[in-house]
Amino acid sequence: MSVAGRKRWLLAALLLPLVWLAAKALLWGLGANPIEAITRFLGDWALRLLILTLAITPAARLVPGLGVLRSYRRMMGLAAFFYALAHVSSYVGLDQFFDWGEIGRDIAKRTYITVGMTVFLLLLPLAVTSTDAMVRRLGGRNWKRLHRLVFPAAILACLHYFMMVKVKFGIEPALYALAVAVLLAARLVWALRGASRLGERVRP
Ligand code: HEM
Repeated sequence: MSVAGRKRWLLAALLLPLVWLAAKALLWGLGANPIEAITRFLGDWALRLLILTLAITPAARLVPGLGVLRSYRRMMGLAAFFYALAHVSSYVGLDQFFDWGEIGRDIAKRTYITVGMTVFLLLLPLAVTSTDAMVRRLGGRNWKRLHRLVFPAAILACLHYFMMVKVKFGIEPALYALAVAVLLAARLVWALRGASRLGERVRP
């Protein structure tokens, strides 16, 4: 199958959580607090897809034959952003009924909301600059530098989740934080190795 064909299948797969949410809402209901259920569901998928996007480069480097995954990284990243946008929209529209004053107070008062907002603001420039034209405009080097924002975004997204569930211990936020820690550690090791190799080459 061609890359374009595979991308169509991937797009369909990335929309499946939304189909599941709609089916659940129609067939079984979303429980006592459907707005909370929708916001949480979308937030979960935003974080999961962000982590999967981060995992692509290490997987492609470590497992022979998985280099092809790199072609799907942009799509995965955009899907993570799409779910984050839907999550924020659910909070703004369904939870707060577009009451901007209340939203502003929430951002200032509740630290986990402030952190969530920061994550969203970190992801926004990455989504905006994801087109080929923007890569060319920024130049590969600057584009790469800018896209390193995905690392603090992933750390803060885990923190946002942890801060929310701190009253009840949850295995899920711990697993996400562990995955992010492992993926960032792998990147750090590679970056340090690369820098020391460069140093060896530069030394006379
Ligand atoms: C303006 C930005 C954001 C706001 C205002 C916000 C708000 C919220 C709120 C209110 C909840 C709790 C839902 C409830 O219990 O009713 C929540 C949960 C969550 N959010 Fe966000 N969020 C933001 C950004 C993000 C982003 C960018 C991500 C991920 C990339 C994210 C991931 C999550 C996760 C994983 C949860 C926990 C879901 C669960 O309990 O299963 N949030 N957020």
